Amino acid sequence: MRASIQKAAVAGGRFFGAAAQIGYINAERDLYNAFMRDCGCLTPEIDLKWATNEPSPGTFDFRAMDGLARFASRAGMRLRGHTPVWHRSIPPWAEAALADADWRPVGRYIATTLRRFPAVEEWDVVNEPIDTGRRMDGLRDSPFLQAFGPGYIQRALEEARAHAPRARLMINEFGLEYDTPEHRDRRYLLLKLVERLKRVDAPLDGVGLQSHLKLGYGPFSQPQFAAFLRDLAQFGVAITLTELDVKEEAYAAPAEARDQAVADAVRAYLDVAFAEPSVGGLLCWGLSDRHSWLDITDEDWSRHAGAWKSGEGPGFNRGAPLDAAMRPKPMYRAILQAFAQAPRR
Ligand code: XIL
Repeated sequence: MRASIQKAAVAGGRFFGAAAQIGYINAERDLYNAFMRDCGCLTPEIDLKWATNEPSPGTFDFRAMDGLARFASRAGMRLRGHTPVWHRSIPPWAEAALADADWRPVGRYIATTLRRFPAVEEWDVVNEPIDTGRRMDGLRDSPFLQAFGPGYIQRALEEARAHAPRARLMINEFGLEYDTPEHRDRRYLLLKLVERLKRVDAPLDGVGLQSHLKLGYGPFSQPQFAAFLRDLAQFGVAITLTELDVKEEAYAAPAEARDQAVADAVRAYLDVAFAEPSVGGLLCWGLSDRHSWLDITDEDWSRHAGAWKSGEGPGFNRGAPLDAAMRPKPMYRAILQAFAQAPRR
């Protein structure tokens, strides 16, 4: 029998999945097979975001998400919902409504999505609410905050609860992993936000840690990250690693060295994470380098000036478990082994 990450995850009482786009799954047999083999959970990479689904007020287009939900249901996979309230996916028409402090469009989008997809077990109700260096409470100065004040997170959670009484309602955040001043601040601010939400009895069931690792950033401290997870777990919240992938740094190195660096970072991260019993599952932000949102940027190219002959280059960023030809890389085996060797929960 071929290895399957989901099987290894389930054996330890956890789950594994990935962000997906149904168009690619339907069009690419090898990608479809990879999802079927490795995933027990799917989340839409794009198809539940507000700007994608409500092009004009009250007009919805859920064709893509309906397709993904149907695929998940037939394959027996669970669904994570991502994400109704996010400052980066506000339809242009709604910006005006938000500027008038009109909650109704926000409430309608939460109601419509949560009711339409009752199979979703976990919702990132609010995505990326934290920002450093702006406000003492650490909240991002988003259109939602500007319109409704800091209470918008609680309000979104309460309305979500009314429409999805059995789902796990979460907030989801990035930039929490490393032992840098910035990430340390972000960890602290997230803990304070969870503390405040719990104190006012907001229906917060869990916290999503995006887990976008970056090889050029760091260092990563296992003891510090373990302490953060313990502090978070003490609020009684479930924790899901929601968007694991790895942005590379040294693109001119041989592919084997690049892949090993990615795998080592993932293994160090997952070993601490899976030692915390509140961490119930992991999703990668895409299964394969073929469709990863992580691009090699102009900045990356300029750092490597002269490294390649013209017409050649580093190929894809190699920060997903499968390469662009759907072959498992060391990162794939790192995830598999981290699940297989983690304590049972
Ligand atoms: C990204 C998608 O991968 C892209 O395809 C899209 O263009 C923008 O959003 N954090 C999140 C995700 O919570 O929703 C983002 O997904 C990646 C960063």
